[in-house]
Amino acid sequence: MALLVTGGAGFIGSNFIRDWLALGDEPVVNLDKLTYAGNPANLGQYVGDRRYTLVQGDIGDAALVAQLLATVQPRAVLNFAAESHVDRSILGADDFIQTNIVGTFRLLEAVRAYWKGLQGEAHAAFRFLHVSTDEVYGTLSPTDPPFAETNRYEPNSPYAATKAASDHLVRAWHHTHGLPVITTNCSNNYGPYHFPEKLIPLVIHNALAGKPLPIYGDGQQVRDWLYVGDHCSAIRTVLAGGRLGETYNIGGWNEKPNLEVVRTLCAHLDALAPRADGASYATQITFVKDRPGHDRRYAIDARKLERELGWRPAETFDTGIEKTVRWYLANPQWVQDVTSGAYREWVGAQYGAATP
Ligand code: NAD
Ligand code: DAU
Repeated sequence: MALLVTGGAGFIGSNFIRDWLALGDEPVVNLDKLTYAGNPANLGQYVGDRRYTLVQGDIGDAALVAQLLATVQPRAVLNFAAESHVDRSILGADDFIQTNIVGTFRLLEAVRAYWKGLQGEAHAAFRFLHVSTDEVYGTLSPTDPPFAETNRYEPNSPYAATKAASDHLVRAWHHTHGLPVITTNCSNNYGPYHFPEKLIPLVIHNALAGKPLPIYGDGQQVRDWLYVGDHCSAIRTVLAGGRLGETYNIGGWNEKPNLEVVRTLCAHLDALAPRADGASYATQITFVKDRPGHDRRYAIDARKLERELGWRPAETFDTGIEKTVRWYLANPQWVQDVTSGAYREWVGAQYGAATP
């Protein structure tokens, strides 16, 4: 028994693998292209652990994926791999089209061929779990009900459009080919190992570096914040008991305007790592030009997952954000490495040319 996880060197995937290996002995093979967002050091503690193997490669590389599936014989494939940052998709969407759409298509085809060749219980028990986003549903007004699984797909950013396309491919591979898929659509994750291009880690990093804390537009855009450990427990729950062909929304029941999130971060930093001059980090808040096409509000109705599988998040925003700030304060070297690009040297030193 083993899992094949794609994109497991990124933020959520590496948290998922760490939690998985902390809870049991089932091995994990991590197929990751190691883009700028993929950092093998996130799972450096497992180098040499027989339960963990990193394979550097692209989900769109059909031959590599077929060979991996044949060798690993996973009971499930969990697809975290994606280009994930909205702002980057606005600057240029090519990588998003390639990985999120073409890559998912090639992965689905390779997995379908593998699954067709499985016999008996292995065939019946196999799962393809696709990790997606609430951004596929578009944007909400302040009074709209939260996104349910039945909402229309109305993606607004190039990133969201490519994730929506991937969800449709996954759905079609189930409907047409019978592939045993489940899709999850979750809200904004936060927590340890979050790449500092995203709001929460960027604000912590900039605050400590004495730089401006950039707020897009009026800062009143609302996101639902989900602690990454809760997201990982939801994925384990869906993998274990989710119904085939279904989609499950995963949320934290924590809707917050961006400005409030940033002020909360500043308050925690003021308490835990006060500025030398005694001023609040909030004085570094700077309003900047808005993101084009910026979605105003996301909110998740996660009641289906609770009703069917009994999952609820364990963290409140207060507990999760404090853990997160403490983790960043305790791990300045990680931030230094990912922001300087030094972690790429770590890849070369650790794995050399022949990445396993
Ligand atoms: P991330 O950008 O931190 O990590 C993505 C990982 O995928 C990286 O390790 C990268 O190297 C790898 N990757 C990229 N292209 C690849 C390819 N072609 N083949 C193999 N590996 C490739 O992203 P994340 O925040 O960890 O998000 C993981 C998944 O969850 C994504 O599918 C994303 O759309 C989804 N999601 C994220 C959030 C969030 O708040 N971060 C919320 C909802 C959904
Ligand atoms: O909702 C799920 C999505 O959450 C995931 O699918 C994406 O992969 C993930 O990146 C995230 O998307 P967002 O665009 O919501 O996250 P981001 O951290 O980039 O921005 C959060 C909010 O903060 C958003 O309203 C934009 C705003 N923002 C962001 C940055 C980076 C700022 O105001 N200033 C900033 O500098």
